[in-house]
Amino acid sequence: MRYSRALVTGASSGIGRALCELLAEEGIPLLITARDRERLKEIQSDLGKKVDVQIFVADLSVGTSRASLLASISGYAPDLIINNAGFGLYGPALSHSTADLSTMLDVNAKAVLEITLESAKWLTSTKRKGTIVNISSAASFFPFPYFSVYAASKSFVTIFSESLDRELAPSGIRVLTACPGMVNTSFRARASKGLFTGKIAFGFSQELAARKIYEQIKTGKSLSIFTRKYKLAVLIGRFLPHRIREKILARSLSKRFPINSKM
Ligand SMILES: NC(=O)c1ccc[n+]([C@@H]2O[C@H](COP(=O)([O-])OP(=O)(O)OC[C@H]3O[C@@H](n4cnc5c(N)ncnc54)[C@H](OP(=O)(O)O)[C@@H]3O)[C@@H](O)[C@H]2O)c1
Repeated sequence: MRYSRALVTGASSGIGRALCELLAEEGIPLLITARDRERLKEIQSDLGKKVDVQIFVADLSVGTSRASLLASISGYAPDLIINNAGFGLYGPALSHSTADLSTMLDVNAKAVLEITLESAKWLTSTKRKGTIVNISSAASFFPFPYFSVYAASKSFVTIFSESLDRELAPSGIRVLTACPGMVNTSFRARASKGLFTGKIAFGFSQELAARKIYEQIKTGKSLSIFTRKYKLAVLIGRFLPHRIREKILARSLSKRFPINSKM
């Protein structure tokens, strides 16, 4: 399918930014959004040499901000919508303010819900085909102590997107779910509030993650877990006793964040 414009949320850094570069290479005009106006402008002037790039500054944790982005959909007419904005917070749930965790839910889940539904409604009402890609995570498949709200928010994304894909596919609208494993972006620095700024040795680059997502868009695969290692981990994880699985997850997390696991 030839797309007339792609809306990319979380376009100011990491996977989102790499996706914008790739889509611009492919000649797809862009509507890019995030909170950081300066970074969006930088991307606009950089990629604007290849395709038309419109920017929309929005804090997706704020209802009115999401509403104005949604209201602009018909004007920009994107038929490729990539819900990529998101963040995590490492550590015991009780160590964070409830407000911060609610904000995470707003960005990771509520914004995805609203943008997905409103885009799909607009595509349907204008009799267009289109693709919505929701960036979930390999962390969406299990309970994940010390990363609980993030994992729960991404579980929502995975289940919602896969279900809606079945509903909408007959009308030519696809809702794809992408589940990256570890990608070397600013995600971990943000999730650890600056405690972990290193790179994960076996992590993907943001460019490779973007290529995997673009490949998924081209093949129309409903759910993509990025590597064999993560596919296997998800498969085996389903059959492991939860205490063993959670011990493994806690050990992996403790390499990035000091947790006092008594498990
Ligand atoms: N990196 C990984 O290992 C990994 C693994 C699995 C899944 N993922 C998922 O991949 C997606 C992209 O993450 P990334 O790794 O590329 O991280 P990143 O480099 O930190 O990028 C996150 C993006 O989300 C935007 N964002 C955060 N809060 C926002 C808000 N309140 N309103 C609007 N935009 C907001 C940020 O833009 P501003 O700060 O400018 O607003 C930024 O562009 C996320 O959904 C993440 O959960 C990442």
